[in-house]
Amino acid sequence: MKIFLDTANIQEIKRAVELGLIDGVTTNPSLLSKEGKEPVSQLREIVRLVKGPISAEVVSMDADGMVKEAVPLAKLGKNIVIKVPMCEQGLIAVRRLAGRGIRTNVTLVFSSSQALLAAKAGASYVSPFVGRIDDISGDGMEIVGEIAAIFNNYLFRTEIIVASIRHPLHFVQSAVIGAHIATVPFSVLEKLMKHPLTDRGIDAFSKDWEKLKRSLKK
Ligand code: G3P
Repeated sequence: MKIFLDTANIQEIKRAVELGLIDGVTTNPSLLSKEGKEPVSQLREIVRLVKGPISAEVVSMDADGMVKEAVPLAKLGKNIVIKVPMCEQGLIAVRRLAGRGIRTNVTLVFSSSQALLAAKAGASYVSPFVGRIDDISGDGMEIVGEIAAIFNNYLFRTEIIVASIRHPLHFVQSAVIGAHIATVPFSVLEKLMKHPLTDRGIDAFSKDWEKLKRSLKK
């Protein structure tokens, strides 16, 4: 499973790149707004740091506007993927962009029917938002499982990006289902590395080593 970082924060991206675990980045208007900087220069900086796919979202409400926004965004780098909201106009834009060879990530997907339509429209990626489904007492991972089965039934090449991941269990469940990608906030990436028994083990090894060194000095 590929791991994308769900952030527009340069420090987080630099740390993840150093770890060598990051296959791509997903941004959205809220994440860019959180950084408070000019969004295009922020995206340029991300393109400089990351080789894999970087999602940049359009904010227009109509297909013409989405395509108009997407074209210059796609020119920021060969790895830019245009994030398009799941809606009627979004699906029209996805088909037009696919025709121009511009890859898209259909975002704000909350059902398997939406994912199927996005794949048929020619989306390169679909992003089911598991955390937000769970927030309203749904089962986000169940939807991901359905999408995976549907894409498998019809051999769609559209990749599933599990998004709105809130905790390590979402990440593990994504991998068990066989989702292509999980996009994780940096805080979740940190948690994935940790285990209390690992910390306890490192501490015990270190104490025993010091004990040995002290006894050898005597
Ligand atoms: O890529 C955007 C998505 O991951 C949103 O996450 O936590 O705002 O639901 P969240």
